[in-house]
Amino acid sequence: MFKRWLAKPPGTFNYRFDDGLRVQVSPVRPEHAPRFEAGYQQLSEASRRMRFFGQLSGLSSKQLEFLTRPDGRLHLAYGALNLAQPEEPGVGVARCIRLDGDSRIAEVGITILDQYQGRGVGQLLHACLHRAGHVAGLKQFIYDVSADNERFIRHLLALGARQVSRDRDVVRLMMPVYGSGRAVHSGTASAAHFKTLLEAVAAAEPATPLA
Ligand SMILES: CC(C)(COP(=O)(O)OP(=O)(O)OC[C@H]1O[C@@H](n2cnc3c(N)ncnc32)[C@H](O)[C@@H]1OP(=O)(O)O)[C@@H](O)C(=O)NCCC(=O)NCCS
Repeated sequence: MFKRWLAKPPGTFNYRFDDGLRVQVSPVRPEHAPRFEAGYQQLSEASRRMRFFGQLSGLSSKQLEFLTRPDGRLHLAYGALNLAQPEEPGVGVARCIRLDGDSRIAEVGITILDQYQGRGVGQLLHACLHRAGHVAGLKQFIYDVSADNERFIRHLLALGARQVSRDRDVVRLMMPVYGSGRAVHSGTASAAHFKTLLEAVAAAEPATPLA
């Protein structure tokens, strides 16, 4: 318990992937709004549907304001920028929103721009959410995943999630919030990698925010 009070949520840090991609990860801030608008336009219809279950043509100013003003308690959000292409809208974003004010359960959503999918950024941002969620006192994460997104469903199960419901369109999974690598008990290769990411996020050196 004391350890959780002493722990800090991840701040801004830089991270290098094995394929050479270098990103800056930071908590989402209001000045990121233009990046969200531009990034949403670049997202394929398939990715929009997987994440938002609809094909909105764009984000309204109300949605933008909500998405870029996480309060660090009810709503946590982390984004990643490519350090080699900082003028691009970004690489992706992960957020969680508490089900209600007192709940220790929050719903997670992750969006990685199509050209960056499959390079590990989703997992890195996901690890940030676990660390920050733990510090904020969250115990469980909920994931509503499109039923045809079998790859991501398999990934969440491999990290220790369990399926709690399934209808024609959506599979709901729940996973404990992992404050550190030690909390991950699943023995899969994906879980082993996630443990290393959780440790990397907890130990990351702060970096100067780009924008
Ligand atoms: C699903 C998504 C968040 C994964 O992020 P990513 O950066 O592409 O994935 P990573 O490279 O970090 O790999 C994480 C896992 O996702 C899986 N994955 C990779 N690319 C994926 C893709 N295009 N679609 C679905 N799953 C994918 C991988 O198999 C990997 O699991 P494994 O290591 O256990 O095999 C991302 O592809 C995305 O934004 N898709 C569209 C929106 C969406 O489906 N969001 C999820 C609902 S919350």
